Amino acid sequence: MTIPPADAAGIARAAVILRNGGLVAFPTETVYGLGADATQGAAVARIFEAKGRPSFNPLIAHIADATAVADFALPADHFEALARAFWPGPLTLVMRRKPGSNISDLVSAGGATIALRCPDSPAALDLLRAVGRPVAAPSANRSGSVSPTSAAHVAASLGERVDLILDAGPCRVGLESTVLDLTQTVPVILRPGGVTREQIAAIVGAVTSGSDDPAAPKSPGQQLSHYAPSLPVRINTRDVRAGEALLGFGPGEATLNLSTRGDLREAAANLFAMLRQLDDPARFTGIAVMPVPEDGVGAAINDRLRRAAHH
Ligand code: TXA
Ligand code: MG
Repeated sequence: MTIPPADAAGIARAAVILRNGGLVAFPTETVYGLGADATQGAAVARIFEAKGRPSFNPLIAHIADATAVADFALPADHFEALARAFWPGPLTLVMRRKPGSNISDLVSAGGATIALRCPDSPAALDLLRAVGRPVAAPSANRSGSVSPTSAAHVAASLGERVDLILDAGPCRVGLESTVLDLTQTVPVILRPGGVTREQIAAIVGAVTSGSDDPAAPKSPGQQLSHYAPSLPVRINTRDVRAGEALLGFGPGEATLNLSTRGDLREAAANLFAMLRQLDDPARFTGIAVMPVPEDGVGAAINDRLRRAAHH
């Protein structure tokens, strides 16, 4: 495995590996993805193996622009307005698969829908154009652990299971994309993320989310046990117990601070890297996290923190 910078030479090498059925970890604006050519079933199967995913959870197919969508999905209400507003960007759209599309059924985990996203990172877009095919990519971490926001996180988690890691430094958004299901009458947020519910509602009007209705459809990958550091995590607290690290938000003493000025976007970008830094049993017995407001991207931060705290 090699870790070249995401320059023209690195991207050209990565594209060759993908077209030959290999695995490439690449930077997006949200987190690093573990990519395979979405049209090659054997390559996509290697993703599940490398991640140690217990079940065949469906994957996001990444594309370089919205015009490619017609090849892979059936038309869906709101698609065009959403793509215009948020692509490239941290929004994944779940639509019905187009019959006969060349995307492997494994990407959809055998289901009738396909999740599509156009990522907002120059390296990812250059790579997608160089490959010339959709690239299936979950977050580039072993199943169940925190998503990687740097090339070093990917190397620590996946090591030799990946053929090449393109390095473009830390991810700007730091939280995974919002997953929005367009196959229902009213769009459903399956996973909160970098695009907020308020932003989506401004485009589509009514939108629901799994938390409004416990019976609403959820993303198959949204079991509570995801994103768990090895140390116990307590959230919504300012009281630190002996041996615990404190992950702060806003002014005040803390071991590390998500954003001393209380900026939610800054906090999102820092979340996973700081959880990893504090997840050190040699130094701490647990991680206490200060309250983070629920508005805007705070909803996605709190979603990830609740998962991290669930043991
Ligand atoms: O920001 C992101 O979304 C990153 C970067 C690499 O793009 N990717 C990512 O992938 O977080 P992953 O596999 O870790 O999470 C994808 C989520 C999972 O919860 C999965 O269940 C859901 O999207 N998903 C994928 N395809 C779906 C489908 N057809 N229907 C419903 N949910 C789907
Ligand atoms: Mg993931």
